[in-house]
Amino acid sequence: MRKKIIAGNWKMNMTPSQAVALVNELKPLVANEEVDVVFCVPAIDIIPAMEAAKGSNINIGAENMYFEESGAYTGEISPAMLTDVGVKYVVLGHSERREYFAETDQTVNKKVLKAFEHGITPIICCGETLEQREQGVTIDFIRQQIKIAFLNVTADQAKSAVIAYEPIWAIGTGKVATTAQAQEVCAAIRACINELYDEATGSAIRIQYGGSVSADSAAELFAQPDIDGGLVGGASLKADFGKIVNYK
Ligand code: 13P
Repeated sequence: MRKKIIAGNWKMNMTPSQAVALVNELKPLVANEEVDVVFCVPAIDIIPAMEAAKGSNINIGAENMYFEESGAYTGEISPAMLTDVGVKYVVLGHSERREYFAETDQTVNKKVLKAFEHGITPIICCGETLEQREQGVTIDFIRQQIKIAFLNVTADQAKSAVIAYEPIWAIGTGKVATTAQAQEVCAAIRACINELYDEATGSAIRIQYGGSVSADSAAELFAQPDIDGGLVGGASLKADFGKIVNYK
């Protein structure tokens, strides 16, 4: 039985002092040991958010990471900087990073490999545009993203990975994918992992749905056989996140 993983992606929201206030507000609301709870926060919020989350079930994760160890990469965050303060999860390849910051399947793959090298669990994002969905190429496109993201990743590493299926047209739009659409793609992702590795790997890996997840839609989405939780944007910044974590 896979443990559900419900993660917030704060994106570029919350100053350090606001982050502390939000963690303190949400701490009692997300106290559900049955699921893994992760708040992926802006780099500057990681340390204060961790301090605020101490003693709770909240894991603080990062929203991005660079694939080099250190050096002349102005503005980037290294894996060792994250592990040094106890970060265990990092979101990689979010569609916003692909769109605005030139991330490619290849850079995502490099980051995935580097995260595993440092013992950080990657939350690997994939997802199609509305145009791709309308053209009927969603599954082909997602399979390609997954195959490249997992190049040279071992089966043991893949077992511990998290994949977030986030249709781009559903992000921040209030337009959540139907349960059937979300389940169909998450099942296809698991089938792709089965092909790349084996069934043991496919049945161990956790696959989230993301895109306008709300307190209203969470229960039905997370009840699907191939949906192991969610990656939540807007609703992770408010008390609603407590309802999402306690979706049952
Ligand atoms: P929303 O939940 O705001 O649609 O964002 C989803 C997302 O991009 C999470 O990574």
